[in-house]
Amino acid sequence: MTRRLEWDWYSGTLPENVIVDETAYIETSFSFLLYRSEVHGGVTYGHGASTYLGTMFDVGPTGRVSLGDYALVHGARIICDARVEIGDFALISWNVVIMDNYRLPLSGDDRRRQLMKVAERSPRVLSGFRPEPVIIGPNTWIGFGACILPGVHIGEGSVVGAKSVVRESVPPYKVAVGNPARILRSING
Ligand SMILES: CC(C)(COP(=O)(O)OP(=O)(O)OC[C@H]1O[C@@H](n2cnc3c(N)ncnc32)[C@H](O)[C@@H]1OP(=O)(O)O)[C@@H](O)C(=O)NCCC(=O)NCCS
Repeated sequence: MTRRLEWDWYSGTLPENVIVDETAYIETSFSFLLYRSEVHGGVTYGHGASTYLGTMFDVGPTGRVSLGDYALVHGARIICDARVEIGDFALISWNVVIMDNYRLPLSGDDRRRQLMKVAERSPRVLSGFRPEPVIIGPNTWIGFGACILPGVHIGEGSVVGAKSVVRESVPPYKVAVGNPARILRSING
């Protein structure tokens, strides 16, 4: 069965292995243009969860992304080769990048080899390297343009400031800002 969104401006359909709660909202199937997951529940939408224009699921063959109940993603790029978990009531703002994999090695020689491989692939995507799962806890708010790097866990109730680069986990109920992100202060739930 093809799954087309009746309001979609894009002519695509939802991939079969994406699980969507009947109360969830997907603004456009264009969000799945880069989606290549082959696992059941490559993306899962919880009750009332939503993704809006500009959100892109760049999910590799074994990647799995979950959006908790009422999670709202407004135009983020999610790069996932293992696991990205977005908790209940999490709010992810415009142009946020969440990645569980750098997809490229540091060494210039190795990067050159990777780029030559990309030229032979279809689709022409980077792959390989080591993924480290990312967890965005419940009730969190990730400000616009922030970048959440592999292996990071954003604790429940925490806020990440706009344009911050987070490379270390943030404990629950903190405000973290800057590049690299530092804890600014604690907040109440
Ligand atoms: C993180 C945030 C909530 C903090 O707000 P705040 O508590 O009012 O913080 P303040 O403005 O009092 O700033 C406190 C300090 O943090 C710094 N700071 C605040 N936000 C910062 C950011 N995004 N990056 C770097 N530093 C930041 C300030 O420069 C200040 O530093 P100082 O004490 O050395 O002078 C806010 O700055 C932010 O980034 N909001 C995100 C907005 C957004 O993405 N909206 C999208 C709509 S969904």
